[in-house]
Amino acid sequence: MTLAVQYSYDNIGIRSPHRIMITGGAGFIGSNFVHHWFSAYPNDRVVVLDALTYAGNRKNLASLENNPNFRFVEGNICDRALIDRLLQEEQINTIAHFAAESHVDRSILGPDAFVQTNVVGTFTLLEAFRQYWLAQGQPDHYRFLHVSTDEVYGSLGPHDHAFTEKTPYAPNSPYSASKAGSDHLARAYYHTYGMPTVITNCSNNYGPYHYPEKLIPLMCINALLGKPLPVYGDGQNVRDWLYVLDHCRALDTVIHHGRPGETYNIGGNNEVKNIDLVKILCRIMDELAVHLPIKPSNQLITFVKDRPGHDRRYAIDATKIKTELGWAPLVTVEEGLRQTVGWYLTHRHWWEPLLSEEYQAYYRQVYPS
Ligand code: NAD
Ligand code: TYD
Repeated sequence: MTLAVQYSYDNIGIRSPHRIMITGGAGFIGSNFVHHWFSAYPNDRVVVLDALTYAGNRKNLASLENNPNFRFVEGNICDRALIDRLLQEEQINTIAHFAAESHVDRSILGPDAFVQTNVVGTFTLLEAFRQYWLAQGQPDHYRFLHVSTDEVYGSLGPHDHAFTEKTPYAPNSPYSASKAGSDHLARAYYHTYGMPTVITNCSNNYGPYHYPEKLIPLMCINALLGKPLPVYGDGQNVRDWLYVLDHCRALDTVIHHGRPGETYNIGGNNEVKNIDLVKILCRIMDELAVHLPIKPSNQLITFVKDRPGHDRRYAIDATKIKTELGWAPLVTVEEGLRQTVGWYLTHRHWWEPLLSEEYQAYYRQVYPS
């Protein structure tokens, strides 16, 4: 299956060659971004720094293992000595910072790791990059891209205007609070030290390599296994779905053309209620899957206890990145979901090993029967 949309990289590579460090590059968005970057800029040096937590998977990068321009380093963003060494050794000029604890439900069960990685880890990376950037003579083409979430803005009512870059922060979960803290640090490093940081706040991503615990992969996998499709609360919560490759293209644009010290909101322009999204997924699954244990799969939809503090609606106003940098999402939710369902159908060998005993223990905690 190929996307109808073709990506063009003309006129983007004005600051290449980059020597880019991608933190969290073995995770969902990070690994898609690594692949995106190599297809756009095959001659750039790419160093992935990833701690390989439960959400990191080196197999996501398997096709690059023999590429001489690629280096994978297993390590923690809280490890200052390691970061100092890598920046020097690799003469990095760009950081794309994805590494994070990223799942709201896990942040409710145990917030500690979220503060450690998202706040302390981001601080460690910013401070290491600042010292290195100073020692290099403060080159103004260096960039620190901090990838964040729309969840820092809190929850919208049904008729509220979508989040803009000026919406006040109002995070509601330990996850979003820790991301908000890291955003403030990235902002402060520009305003205090002039370090060229750029922040992006994006909506819910979906696509290949998405870890099974998140809504869309969880529904795909459970439908394939004939297991219940658990919808929290009344299913009326709204998310703005962004296809991951559209997101990667936006981040690429921001690295090349974004103004230091600025924030750019990135959204898919695809607001959908959870229950409607799950029904669309079931329809596509019924159509594309040769064999399903239960068909039609919407019989598996089960309403379960709501998530504590569950934000009602997120929506992104992406006017700034569109008018200033010329980026807009290209993939419709129908097209992106077909791609994604197709990927989970053909990548059972990728997701099956992830349903480990540890994952089952997590699952039983969040979805007690
Ligand atoms: P993910 O959980 O799939 O991947 C996170 C990666 O970071 C993993 O590879 C993990 O091993 C690595 N990591 C975690 N802690 C680390 C540490 N201390 N040191 C080094 N590596 C570490 O997350 P994702 O969905 O790809 O999200 C990437 C970024 O985008 C995150 O910063 C997240 O907050 C943000 N974001 C994600 C979404 C989304 O819909 N997935 C939406 C908005 C923003
Ligand atoms: P999720 O993928 O966890 O992303 P986020 O919480 O960052 O938005 O969830 C997306 C939406 O789907 C959110 O409103 C919670 C809901 N949801 C369910 O209804 N059932 C589930 O099993 C999961 C994981 C999420």
